[in-house]
Amino acid sequence: MTVLITGGLGFIGSHTVVELIEQGYDCVILDNLSKTTINVLEKIESVVQRKVSFMKVDMLDIQAVRSVFEEYDISAVIHFAGFKSVGESVKNPLVYYRNNLISTLNLIDVMQEFNLKKLVFSSSATVYGDIHTPPMKEDFSLQAPNPYGRTKLMLEEILSDLVLSDSTWSIALMRYFNPIGAHKSGLLGELPFGTPNNLMPHVLKTASEGTSKLQVFGGDYDTMDGSCIRDFIHIMDLASGHVKALEYIDKNSGCEAINLGTGIGYSVLDLIHTFEEVNGVKIPYEIVNRRDGDIIVSIAEVGKAEVLLGWKAKYNLADMCEDAWRWYKSIKKLN
Ligand code: WQD
Repeated sequence: MTVLITGGLGFIGSHTVVELIEQGYDCVILDNLSKTTINVLEKIESVVQRKVSFMKVDMLDIQAVRSVFEEYDISAVIHFAGFKSVGESVKNPLVYYRNNLISTLNLIDVMQEFNLKKLVFSSSATVYGDIHTPPMKEDFSLQAPNPYGRTKLMLEEILSDLVLSDSTWSIALMRYFNPIGAHKSGLLGELPFGTPNNLMPHVLKTASEGTSKLQVFGGDYDTMDGSCIRDFIHIMDLASGHVKALEYIDKNSGCEAINLGTGIGYSVLDLIHTFEEVNGVKIPYEIVNRRDGDIIVSIAEVGKAEVLLGWKAKYNLADMCEDAWRWYKSIKKLN
């Protein structure tokens, strides 16, 4: 079975490609290299010890998308390609709406032309907004707090309307919580382009430089230690969750939203302390003002993934911190 992975050279895409190949799938990677580099392909190939098909394609060009389906006999698609920075989306909303919406609409159009109707879509826990008491369940009402999240919410609605209009589609909407960590080889990880937004890239930078202090956004929240709580999930657990979702849509039509998380919440300070303990490094930090738009607690309800996909996260926070540090040391050539 040949699977097309759009955005397959990104953080989540690259780890999912490795998992797919190790599970016996043939993969075709599509990426426009706007947020990654071509040497991620070499890294994937050295992990899986074989060549992997790749096409540099900008999904805003529907003919370019079509050419992939003309070239390869695709059986299903996992669609990761899209911009994902909350901060960037607030500054440049139109760039986000155009890129994330049009590229997905182009993909769906071409899939229909080739009568291919099996799609795993990369959504996000951000669609739950901050209106619910955690843990977040898939049937909760949705409300996205920023343009990035709104592109994900709109695309979820577009895809569910598509299935309502044509029940022969099989679509899984994967809602990730906070993916961190790296492949155990140390060859793949989260390549932060520009100034990283997320927490782990900042932790890694502080650990390696030890000069500047990590800024903890808010220490006066109504939580055990005053810092926000997140459902951190190992990137390899996220990857295996996508393979299980692919198996599910291969056998079931319809449209299902599915959380990918651990169901366990850790605070920002928990992560810092675990990282220090596991890796034997110090992370100097200072508590600063809260960050606009942050929700206090984000934790997944994980029962549906377990029942529907037979999937459960297996790595813990220590694994995530250890694997992330191994990756970072390898790219920074630290000992
Ligand atoms: C986590 C916690 C910060 C950096 C975002 C997107 C979400 C998803 C994951 C794509 C928060 C705190 C962070 C720092 C800090 N992306 N923090 N100092 O905001 O939960 O989710 O990334 O799907 O859609 O919204 O992740 O890692 O940015 O923040 O204290 O230097 O770490 O305030 O409490 P977030 P994050």
